[in-house]
Amino acid sequence: MATTIFHCSVLLFSLFFLGTATGCFGDLLQADDQHRPLRSIRNSFSEDGFESYSNQRNNIGGGRKFLSNGGWLGNSIFSYYCRFLLDMIRMPFNKKEVEADELKLLDHQKTLLFIFGDSLFDAGNNKYVRTTTYLQYPYGFTYFTHATGRICDGRIVPDMIAELANLPFIPPSMQPGANFSYGANFACVGATVLDSYATGNSSKETVTLREQMSQFIELAKKLNATLGPSRAKAILSKSVYVFSMGGDDYLQYYDEFTDEGRSPTLSEQQQQVNAVIGNLTEALMELYEEGARKIAFQNVGPMGCLPFLASNGSCVQALLTMPILHNKQLYEALTSLAERLEGFKFSVFDYFPSLLDRMQHPSDYGFEVGSTPCYYSSSNGYRGMGLDATGDTTLCKYPSAFLLFDDGHTTQCANEQLTSLFWNGDASVTRPYNLKQLFRRELIK
Ligand SMILES: *[C@@H]1O[C@H](CO)[C@@H](O)[C@H](O)[C@H]1NC(C)=O
Ligand SMILES: *[C@@H]1O[C@H](CO)[C@@H](O)[C@H](O)[C@H]1NC(C)=O
Ligand SMILES: *[C@@H]1O[C@H](CO)[C@@H](O)[C@H](O)[C@H]1NC(C)=O
Ligand SMILES: *[C@@H]1O[C@H](CO)[C@@H](O)[C@H](O)[C@H]1NC(C)=O
Ligand SMILES: *[C@@H]1O[C@H](CO)[C@@H](O)[C@H](O)[C@H]1NC(C)=O
Repeated sequence: MATTIFHCSVLLFSLFFLGTATGCFGDLLQADDQHRPLRSIRNSFSEDGFESYSNQRNNIGGGRKFLSNGGWLGNSIFSYYCRFLLDMIRMPFNKKEVEADELKLLDHQKTLLFIFGDSLFDAGNNKYVRTTTYLQYPYGFTYFTHATGRICDGRIVPDMIAELANLPFIPPSMQPGANFSYGANFACVGATVLDSYATGNSSKETVTLREQMSQFIELAKKLNATLGPSRAKAILSKSVYVFSMGGDDYLQYYDEFTDEGRSPTLSEQQQQVNAVIGNLTEALMELYEEGARKIAFQNVGPMGCLPFLASNGSCVQALLTMPILHNKQLYEALTSLAERLEGFKFSVFDYFPSLLDRMQHPSDYGFEVGSTPCYYSSSNGYRGMGLDATGDTTLCKYPSAFLLFDDGHTTQCANEQLTSLFWNGDASVTRPYNLKQLFRRELIK
């Protein structure tokens, strides 16, 4: 045991520095963009308990060839300890970037985290609103070893923001019996800003921005009733509110035109952007009325180039134009709110170019594969996403070599890079404040 840990520590010590250089340990693995059928991966597990579980993590989830190719490194007990130590190092990833004083500050006076959003930020609410079977294994397999409702092989951006802010993972708002003393995650797959896309809760099976807001207001009322108005207000004004929304409004809008056999004109696109930004601004003003002061956005990504739309390699122009217009107007709207509303501070992470550049130049960021997802159905374009997964679904061996996990969502390793930019990025990518600054108490007068 002691020698194991010693060997392991030496190995991990050297890997740690290599790993931090590239941002994700999985980047150390050799190139492997060979997919193999999911069934054959499943068959390679033994059926029984704990040890096969650790093998599973090393062989597939861990994405580290050097831990699974036999010999002394292949010993499963040894691998388990290595894996365990590796995870201990990795879990608070980048925590070294948070100064000790800052951590203390957060420890002593916790800042709550509230999350509003769509599939990129959904931590499991979809399980409570969808009637169809959705998001089963292999979703979650890298980190959680089972599907949690996150649309990823592991942790998503809100999980990592919570880690960096020294908070536990923020639970889905609809999870029965969840403890919301550190915040709540209202995000849900398919969530739109505009109500017009939710004609009743059973048809769209999502939680729109308005519904997410209502859930937040319920929680704020409880806080008010429990702690009294002045403490509740102090807590809510110190809390950070993180958003990922708008993408699905453009997707739904685009789909309406596809049904008509055409694309929306530029002025139709602009109209939709105006409606989305207008409604979003109203929601933000309502949030401000409730006491919110620190608002952060991951802006809308290059949807038209995601493989579920661009499976032939050519991007859908309207779903690039609308996000670009949206992102420009979102920044203007937030700037104007900050001028009008006292104490209103915001942060916008420029997700659009950050993702697009990684799709186009994956190797610059330590990925082997940029635009082909790790998990997809070969008979149905690149469709993974659980919804359309059929018997021929394939899963890559090393998700950390991939930017995308399914045809519309990034891997855990990609999320680590994106979260770093959101948390700590300079003004070229996250402005006017980054999340780390928003979490600082002294910003709020
Ligand atoms: C929720 O978590 C907080 C912090 O860990 C704890 O103090 C509190 O007792 C928990 N509440 C419930 C109902 O479990
Ligand atoms: C869906 O709508 C029905 C009535 O319209 C309501 O009773 C039910 O609580 C709603 N479900 C959710 C999850 O909002
Ligand atoms: C907060 O609670 C107090 C009573 O404790 C009530 O008078 C007040 O209206 C509440 N404020 C909000 C915003 O709900
Ligand atoms: C909100 O969106 C609707 C379309 O769904 C639009 O008619 C309305 O004008 C928008 N509101 C604002 C304030 O922009
Ligand atoms: C991709 O190309 C094939 C033939 O080259 C075509 O049949 C198919 O409709 C295209 N798919 C999309 C999404 O454009």
